[in-house]
Amino acid sequence: MRLLVIGTGSIGERHLRVFQQLDRCDAIAFCETHPARRAEIAQRYGIPETFAFSDLDTALAKGSYDIAVVATPAPTHLDIGTRLAEFGVHQLMEKPLSLSLEGVEEYARLVSEQDVTVAVGYVHRAHPALAAIRREIASGRYGRLLELNLATGQSFAQIRPAYREVYFARPEMGGGAINDMITHYYSVGDWLAGPITRLVTDAAHQSLAGVAVEDTVHTLTRHGNGAMGSYSLNLYQHPNEALLTVVCERGTLRADYARRRWSWMTDPGGEWNHVPVSVPDRDEIYRLQNSAFLDAVEGFGEVLCPLEDAIRTLKVNLASHRSAAGSSWEEVPA
Ligand SMILES: NC(=O)c1ccc[n+]([C@@H]2O[C@H](COP(=O)([O-])OP(=O)(O)OC[C@H]3O[C@@H](n4cnc5c(N)ncnc54)[C@H](O)[C@@H]3O)[C@@H](O)[C@H]2O)c1
Repeated sequence: MRLLVIGTGSIGERHLRVFQQLDRCDAIAFCETHPARRAEIAQRYGIPETFAFSDLDTALAKGSYDIAVVATPAPTHLDIGTRLAEFGVHQLMEKPLSLSLEGVEEYARLVSEQDVTVAVGYVHRAHPALAAIRREIASGRYGRLLELNLATGQSFAQIRPAYREVYFARPEMGGGAINDMITHYYSVGDWLAGPITRLVTDAAHQSLAGVAVEDTVHTLTRHGNGAMGSYSLNLYQHPNEALLTVVCERGTLRADYARRRWSWMTDPGGEWNHVPVSVPDRDEIYRLQNSAFLDAVEGFGEVLCPLEDAIRTLKVNLASHRSAAGSSWEEVPA
């Protein structure tokens, strides 16, 4: 298995490190347009100069690859993914898939014709607490999912100190809390409660210094099976938390990232039953996601977020932006 990582900024570096840890690739190469960053990554991860490229065309001319990670800003994703698909390279594509629907159909067609596996980096689907809740819902024990509530926030300035200098500050590069952050939870909602069919979003810049993009998002959703959802997110509260509560006909389930556990309750006014999960470090969910991608490429198992799911979430992102701009409920096209 020969891997090419394209873009080794914050998340590309994490993917490179995770694939080294997984030790399932025979060779790892990367391309990074920024010369100082390229040298830094090569040195830190012991990648020979001949495997550290300045651009994708050179990397494709000088080597052949089975799999690739696309970890560049969102407007470049489809062009890079298309180029890789032409070479039959399986792809772990970072989220969001793109910033518009332009070129999406053509990319999906090419990927299918070339029989290329695509996993999109909606990595929360790998969180063991959410995976457990999804398994519980699928068991049928809890009955129909009626309502989903997500409350999350973090001190983004501390977690991502370079946020002013990177794509996050620029909407046209995929910046802002809708395209960069709450999109993860839209993908989770789609995974747990079915496709989002309509939504209304309120979003604003409230606090994050040095940027004008939205740092607070509140969205109400309706899902295909009738479930109602509410999602709230900010990027400046002190606690780094994500609390997702799923209310079903015969019980309630909750994922609590900060306490590293999921919980269930099946009696009205009863007691929570807590089940701990193991998330030893921030790389863990990426190890799980990337292992699933490797398994799928090797012909056993499924990727956690296939392309069609990421296309649906792209449509949700776009509807969320339209709603925030117009203060209206928006339909999400199928
Ligand atoms: N799934 C997650 O948890 C997660 C987390 C962070 C970012 N992301 C996503 O990953 C993408 C990248 O985010 P980031 O935080 O790493 O950004 P970043 O700005 O830190 O890194 C991007 C890197 O790509 C390089 N680059 C840009 N164009 C290139 C090209 N054509 N060829 C090679 N290198 C190129 C840049 O020089 C930079 O080093 C974004 O789409 C973002 O939304 C996902």
